[in-house]
Amino acid sequence: MVELATAPAVSHAGFLGLGTYRPERVVPNSELVERIESSDEWIVERSGIRERRYAGADETVASMAAAAATAALTDANLTAGDIDLVILATFTHRYATPSAAAEVSALIGATNAAAVDVGAACAGFAYAVGLADGAVRAGTAKRVLVIGAEKISEVIDFDDRGTAFLFGDGAGAVVIGQTPEQGIGPTVWGADGSQMDAIIMNPDTFTAGKEKTNSVLTMQGQTVFRWAIGSMGDVCQRALVAAGVTADDICAFVPHQANMRITNSLVKNLGFPESVAIARDIENAGNTSAASIPLALDRLRQNGEVTSGDLVLLVGFGAGLAFAAQVARVP
Ligand SMILES: CC(C)(COP(=O)(O)OP(=O)(O)OC[C@H]1O[C@@H](n2cnc3c(N)ncnc32)[C@H](O)[C@@H]1OP(=O)(O)O)[C@@H](O)C(=O)NCCC(=O)NCCS
Repeated sequence: MVELATAPAVSHAGFLGLGTYRPERVVPNSELVERIESSDEWIVERSGIRERRYAGADETVASMAAAAATAALTDANLTAGDIDLVILATFTHRYATPSAAAEVSALIGATNAAAVDVGAACAGFAYAVGLADGAVRAGTAKRVLVIGAEKISEVIDFDDRGTAFLFGDGAGAVVIGQTPEQGIGPTVWGADGSQMDAIIMNPDTFTAGKEKTNSVLTMQGQTVFRWAIGSMGDVCQRALVAAGVTADDICAFVPHQANMRITNSLVKNLGFPESVAIARDIENAGNTSAASIPLALDRLRQNGEVTSGDLVLLVGFGAGLAFAAQVARVP
């Protein structure tokens, strides 16, 4: 039998750069409360959210992703021509096809890159990091742009008390490539499709290949809440063990920004020492789904709470119900 060659593998992969994009328009709770008979106090107490940002009418998942990607490339001292794979995690791209990743490749000039979207909702960024880590070490890509980007403001039901205040827009990206030491721990991931109804965007709005219209996100808030606090602690522990580290080695915990009470519960469960910085970007960004982890990580870096080489624990979870976690080194 003829033996097939394999791509030349490399030993180690890690983050080379990080960049984000936050839309300009800040939307405080006060703008949303009337339609859902709520209050700023209730929203802050139950979710930790004070404000979020909404993209402008001319902004898209791809345009925000391109801005974040460009910032990540600058941070990595690379150009778009150095990228050979773009993986974009999103659930709010307007087209079923082509992918947002292909659009981003064209926008930034990554003409040598393969491009693919990942559909794992709020777990999408951590899923994409796992896929990129594997691709780099297997030698099928040298430098990968991993992007999480969402324009959730387009799919919110502003009359739904359980979701209207939760979500925001934005984008975050990392460049992943070969590093001298391993910079990404093994990804612990999974999905429970039997709970697919817990967070769902109505699928019957694809009409004759036209743009998606009138899709809105619906969520069984308590089901998701209980699932997250009941099982994500264990997922985080498994990611620490898989990476061969303990909570004491971690400089920051960057969970998906779903609800401040979920974050607080996971922090308690994991028993981090006081020195560990906790990402609380949700206060000003809301839940930005696939964009939330890189946005929150970048905020910690900008605030000086983490620096290059620090170990951070990332965990994404949401619709699917899907989850993914890994330890990574700050670029
Ligand atoms: C959405 C969420 C904040 C709601 O908080 P909650 O504490 O579960 O709220 P409940 O739905 O149990 O409602 C509690 C009470 O507040 C009321 N309420 C619900 N939404 C309200 C709102 N926006 N404003 C004011 N009151 C509200 C309810 O009517 C209920 O009143 P009652 O006790 O008199 O019946 C919470 O369930 C959550 O964050 N879930 C997870 C969301 C998530 O992570 N999603 C994305 C995952 S990727």
